[in-house]
Amino acid sequence: MCLIINADKTDLSNKIVKDLTRHHQIREIPVTIGTFADGEVYVRDLDCVRGEDVYILHSLCRPVNDSAMRILILADALHRSSAKSVNLVAPYLGYSRQDRKVGPRDPISAKVIANLFEHGFIDRILTVDIHTTQICGFYNIPVESIPGAPVFANYIKSNMNLDNVAIVSPDHGGVIRARKFADMLGISNLAIIDKQRLKPNEVAEMKLIGNVTDKDCLIIDDLIDTGGTLKKAVNLLKENEAKSVKCFCTHPVLSRNGEGLDIDVFVLNTIPVKDDSNCKIIDLADYLAGAIYTIENNDSLSDFINNYRG
Ligand code: R5P
Repeated sequence: MCLIINADKTDLSNKIVKDLTRHHQIREIPVTIGTFADGEVYVRDLDCVRGEDVYILHSLCRPVNDSAMRILILADALHRSSAKSVNLVAPYLGYSRQDRKVGPRDPISAKVIANLFEHGFIDRILTVDIHTTQICGFYNIPVESIPGAPVFANYIKSNMNLDNVAIVSPDHGGVIRARKFADMLGISNLAIIDKQRLKPNEVAEMKLIGNVTDKDCLIIDDLIDTGGTLKKAVNLLKENEAKSVKCFCTHPVLSRNGEGLDIDVFVLNTIPVKDDSNCKIIDLADYLAGAIYTIENNDSLSDFINNYRG
C-alpha cells in the first residue's frame, strides 16, 4: 500500500490523485495544512501512516518560502508518525537557479534547500526538468528529475508539421535538453543562442549559432520567468529570417504573470498559472502519475520515460 497526500491542492495534484487512486493499492489520505495568525505553518488531522510509503504532492513554487515550510512541516509530521518513506513529488523545484557562486560571497541557495529537505526527513524527491542535474548531487537521497520533453513531443507530433523545423536552445545550459528533444522528434537541425546576463532577470546580449532561415523554430527551455530570455530569443530568430517561432518551457514561473508576453509560449502545469497569462498550458498529470506508479513498483523510470506516449 502507498499513500498520497494532496498537499498543494493544485489542479495538477487533484488530477494526479484521481489518476493514481484508480489503482486499488494507492490511497489518498487527507491532512489539514494551515497557518497560525502569525503566519507559522501547522499540520493537523493526519491519518495513520505507520509503515507506509507516503508521497507528498507539492511544488516548491510561489509563494516559494511558504511552500518550503509547508513541505518541511508535513515531512516532519510523517516521519514522527513512522511512515516507512517520505517521498516529495515537487513538479517544480524552486531555488534551483541559485546553484553556484556567481560572485564573491554568494550563497548557494539550492544547497540550502537540499540540506533542509534531506535533514527534514525527506527520503526521495521526484521533480520535472530540474534546472541543472548537478543539483541532484547536492543531496544524498535519490533526486529523480524526469524531462518535460516527452509531454511536449507528444503534443507537437499530434498538432504540428515537422517538415522544416529547427530546435533552438536559448542558452548554453539548455543544449543537452534541446538535443534530446530534437532526437525525440527526429529533427536534425539544432541552433544555439549564446546568451549573456549582466544581472538576474536581465538578458544583456544574444548571438545565434546555427542557421534558421525559413525554418519553423521550436525553442525549448526549462522555465519562463520574466519572459525576457524568450522575447529576445524570438526577436533574434526572426532577425535571422526564421519562418515562425514557438516556445516550449516546462515551468511557468511567470513572476510578472506573463505581462506583455506577445510570443507563442507553451508550458506544462507544474506551477499554477493564471488564466490571463497568454501561455498555452499542456497537462502532465498522467505523465507524473505514471512516474510515481513506476517508482512505487520499483520499475525503471527511464523505460517509462522512453515508452511514454501520452
Ligand atoms: C536560464 O538559465 C533559464 O533556463 C531560463 O532561460 C531563464 O531563467 C528564464 O528567465 P526569464 O524568463 O526571466 O528570462
